[in-house]
Amino acid sequence: MGKDRRDIATRLIHPLERSSRNFHSLVTPIERASTVLFDSLADALETGRESEEHYRYGVNGTPTTRELELRFAEIEEAAGCALTPSGLAAIALTYLATCKAGDHVLIPASVYLPNTLIGNWLKRMEIEVEHYDPMIGGGIAALLRPNTRLIWCESPGSISMEVQDVPAIVAATHANGTLVAVDNTYASGLLFNPLAHGADLSVHALTKYPGGHSDVLMGAINSRDEALARKVRDTARLLGICVSSDEAALVLRGLPTMRLRLDHIGKVALEMARWFADMDEVETVLHPALPACPGHTVFQRDFSGGAGVFSIIFKDWERERVARFVNALELFKIGYSWGGVVSLVMAYDRLERPSRGEGERLVRFNIGLEDANDLKADIVQAMERA
Ligand SMILES: Cc1ncc(COP(=O)(O)O)c(C=O)c1O
Repeated sequence: MGKDRRDIATRLIHPLERSSRNFHSLVTPIERASTVLFDSLADALETGRESEEHYRYGVNGTPTTRELELRFAEIEEAAGCALTPSGLAAIALTYLATCKAGDHVLIPASVYLPNTLIGNWLKRMEIEVEHYDPMIGGGIAALLRPNTRLIWCESPGSISMEVQDVPAIVAATHANGTLVAVDNTYASGLLFNPLAHGADLSVHALTKYPGGHSDVLMGAINSRDEALARKVRDTARLLGICVSSDEAALVLRGLPTMRLRLDHIGKVALEMARWFADMDEVETVLHPALPACPGHTVFQRDFSGGAGVFSIIFKDWERERVARFVNALELFKIGYSWGGVVSLVMAYDRLERPSRGEGERLVRFNIGLEDANDLKADIVQAMERA
């Protein structure tokens, strides 16, 4: 090694030697960057004309984030995937990439509440958002206007679990030139693929099953065709919407076990849902694989299985008793979100779905990876204490 005569301050930044890159592991490397280097000015200026093969600046992606985009696109055979810092940001980006002033948007009444809140916020941009009955199916045709730009579906719906007839909505909609976006977080692409049924965009909270460990927030939009994928990606870049390589690596770590986790979670959730359905205290179990759940037959037709989220409605229990039950649970932790290894429970104040009276007797469960008998024992002891 020749003697480097530059000051140590400089040498700490520009060392003469670097470690060998001849290294292969099973793990996608975490490559962090704001600045991306070019070999020459000509290369920098040429790359400025943007192509997917070239990295240009951190906002446009790193090898780590692109690896996740490629792998997540593959699940739904999408033409392209764009990552966002949360599932909610993926919902917002979907609106921003597809809608303009004067457009009309339809969203199901069962949608994840913050989607509705974004819809309200969009009024200031003269985008009109209207709610529809999630069970409308092909009847959506009657709500279409010449300026209906986007229809949201979320299947099953948040908390009240309505399964939507996405193929019927797509069939009734496409002649109008309207895009269909599905919040497919529940199915994670593995249990239902909306793009294969003609939807244009499949929107995800990777926070749930893909991340799988309740330690990362991220979202993704899978697009069915190239032009739409480019539009979503360009809008994300324009607005500076991107994710860090460190967080992408957490989701990359979750993906290989997602199938196994979902298989186990789906099996235990269904076992528990059936067990609840036989209880005298329980009026209704809203699990898409059970006949009492709206859209059950659509679920049987379109989904390859269920995930770990379902709701029950207690018979005759007043709000205070529901609260005592939730507070008495030990293994089920009280918390929003779902998709991690720990079972969660939530009850809602002022919930007006499925109907006003039922909302206060509704409890939603997220099944994690604990043993099914231990989870049942926890429910039994909490019911006794309630
Ligand atoms: C159906 C659905 N979509 C989107 C989101 C938003 O995801 P995130 O928490 O990553 O913003 C959630 C979060 O609970 C959700 O339940």
